[in-house]
Amino acid sequence: MISTSLPGGTWTLGDLTVTRFGYGAMQLAGPWVMGPPADHDGALAVLREAVNLGITHIDTADAYGPHVTNQLIREALHPYAESLHIATKVGATRDEQGGWPPARDPESLRRAVHDNLETLGLEVLDLVNLRLGNAEGPQPGPIAEAFETLVELQRQGLIRHLGVSNATAEQVTEAKAIAPIVCVQNMYNLAHRQDDELIDALAEEGIAYVPFFPLGGFSPLQSSELSAVAARLEATPMSVALAWLLQRSPNILLIPGTSSTAHLHENVAGAGLSLSADDLTALDNIGR
Ligand SMILES: NC(=O)c1ccc[n+]([C@@H]2O[C@H](COP(=O)([O-])OP(=O)(O)OC[C@H]3O[C@@H](n4cnc5c(N)ncnc54)[C@H](OP(=O)(O)O)[C@@H]3O)[C@@H](O)[C@H]2O)c1
Repeated sequence: MISTSLPGGTWTLGDLTVTRFGYGAMQLAGPWVMGPPADHDGALAVLREAVNLGITHIDTADAYGPHVTNQLIREALHPYAESLHIATKVGATRDEQGGWPPARDPESLRRAVHDNLETLGLEVLDLVNLRLGNAEGPQPGPIAEAFETLVELQRQGLIRHLGVSNATAEQVTEAKAIAPIVCVQNMYNLAHRQDDELIDALAEEGIAYVPFFPLGGFSPLQSSELSAVAARLEATPMSVALAWLLQRSPNILLIPGTSSTAHLHENVAGAGLSLSADDLTALDNIGR
């Protein structure tokens, strides 16, 4: 059992123990997640500091850059500590305009898994999420062919655990009927509460829910209620947003992104804030 002083403690993804406070690497690539970072050494420093702070869950995708964040992770952290678990995603690629066209045919998925293995310098990927939908969000539709392709790669020993991302509740059910999943990674934060029911249902089943854009992503969370609670607690709105997620449900794992070591420290400290019943009521009203 791994102990951690990070807020939220730990969670078990299948047989992998991770800190509930993780790190999302997407924002380490260049503008709009294309190309190299403006500050290469700064990006390496953030990754190393995340691990120094005890974080054992890093979220990435070979599509970030493309290849850039995986290469940075490898440069900063390889050979990886046994306790560190890297989650990645397949199912979308990049076009020259920086778009994220779906790539969920079997051949593209196989190639994406092998690309992730190569760029991360791994022989087995700890966790692969099938990224569904599109930039507008989850889209209904069958996922069996794509998910079964990943199950086959898992049987071949290239993947330890599977998850789905940007998925509808029906697609989560469809995936679970094919093979066990350890997490769902969807957009969710104080202001976007569309998955409330799904989170509670997954918690009952011991499946993690990993909100992406926990701080609002490209449009940072802004709300007068959030600012009022933050002012009362003498904390930043970002801290309150992260603390709220950790207290929302025990199966929520945080992967906030930052390219700044100072923000990383601020977020770790802030996520440990204790929110009173009154604070929670005020915050609950934001997304309802
Ligand atoms: N499955 C999917 O489809 C999908 C989609 C999007 C993202 N993701 C994953 O989710 C992770 C998190 O998403 P995200 O990084 O895009 O969004 P996010 O965590 O909601 O927000 C990151 C943004 O917040 C800023 N920030 C972080 N800490 C801050 C602080 N203390 N004060 C002020 N600003 C702060 C960062 O800027 P600085 O760099 O200046 O700190 C960055 O611009 C990604 O890294 C990625 O791994 C998955």
